Amino acid sequence: MKQSNHIETKLITSGRAKRFTQGSVNPVVQRASSLVFENVKHKKFATANRAKGELFYGRRGTLTHFALQEAMSEIEGGVGCYLYPSGAAAVTNAILAFLKSGDHVLMTGSAYEPTQDFCNLILSKMGISTTYYDPMIGAGIKALIQPNTKVLFLESPSSITMEVQDVPAMVKAAREVNPEIVIMIDNTWAAGVLFEPLKYGVDISIQAATKYIIGHSDAMLGTAVSNARCWDQLRENSYLLGQTVDPDTAYSGSRGLRTLKVRLKQHEESSILIAKWLAERPEVERVNHPALPSCPGHEFYVRDFHGSSGLFSFVLKKRLSDEELANFLDNFEFFHMAYSWGGFESLILANQPEELNHIRPAKPVDFSGTLVRVHIGFENTEDLIADLEAGFARIK
Ligand SMILES: Cc1ncc(COP(=O)(O)O)c(C=O)c1O
Repeated sequence: MKQSNHIETKLITSGRAKRFTQGSVNPVVQRASSLVFENVKHKKFATANRAKGELFYGRRGTLTHFALQEAMSEIEGGVGCYLYPSGAAAVTNAILAFLKSGDHVLMTGSAYEPTQDFCNLILSKMGISTTYYDPMIGAGIKALIQPNTKVLFLESPSSITMEVQDVPAMVKAAREVNPEIVIMIDNTWAAGVLFEPLKYGVDISIQAATKYIIGHSDAMLGTAVSNARCWDQLRENSYLLGQTVDPDTAYSGSRGLRTLKVRLKQHEESSILIAKWLAERPEVERVNHPALPSCPGHEFYVRDFHGSSGLFSFVLKKRLSDEELANFLDNFEFFHMAYSWGGFESLILANQPEELNHIRPAKPVDFSGTLVRVHIGFENTEDLIADLEAGFARIK
């Protein structure tokens, strides 16, 4: 198939080589644990090339997995992509692949809470220490790098509070101190296409593909796309830890890629419209949407991103009481309360500032009102605005 540098085209053509599709439009779903060798020579060849896309054993992947791995590598500009059964597995395996006892990790203090829990509860047991840094630290990260710092982990925009990090400045500063440091980013918000971390010198781009790639809130999947320097170690470590995905989910991942850009366009349009509406509301102190100037790091979003997805937060002027918060959240018509995001549906959750401080180990939040996080799906925006307006009326 002809190659294109346009992301819209890449999302359509990638991972659709004849070997994968075998005459159909989409990759075949090849379900297998055992993959049969024709003879001893074939077995030897498959064994020697088991990490290079030869069918070897189910846990190494089948044609269905190879199709998605190839597509993700092409889309995110890496040499390989490992698939995991969840986004959390992608995060933890990528981190673990580069650490041993005595090492040190630099973790953004605004990381997804289970990522922090992994550092606090699992890495600590292995004698690996973690320092949390302010997500807006930029080149200041330099001062936190110790001789045993092996991994620098970013997540941009941050979970819940949405700070956009100065990734190029952080990469440059970190490599000045230690050229070997492994830099990885949770790139889920940008769905691997709105921000291209490997172009800025990040080694590994991780996604909870559960969100935008799957896109329909009906499967769990993690991806980690690596550059050449880190690929062998990431792949072999993850393989030894038994990480594998069922082929039906891998197929859903490939399927999601085909509509990813058009879905993101709608998430962007609707979320910006609603974010701007919220910014005008008297109940709202600040809107943390990367595309709005009020979001910390907005200038880096403007400089580095190709667009926006649908997840953002806003802070109310008032800290709602438990009763007010329940009345606010329990009565929406179109916004549902659920963890996760990235599907076609709108979602809503809230956090009190003290709850956020608990998961912001580097720096307390700079507001005292209740924070509301929304994911804007594909419902008509007039319906969503009416729903939010009714919500505000409930907390008057
Ligand atoms: C930013 C981020 N990273 C990682 C994850 C984990 O993904 P999964 O739920 O697929 O394990 C999530 C889940 O909400 C997330 O929001």
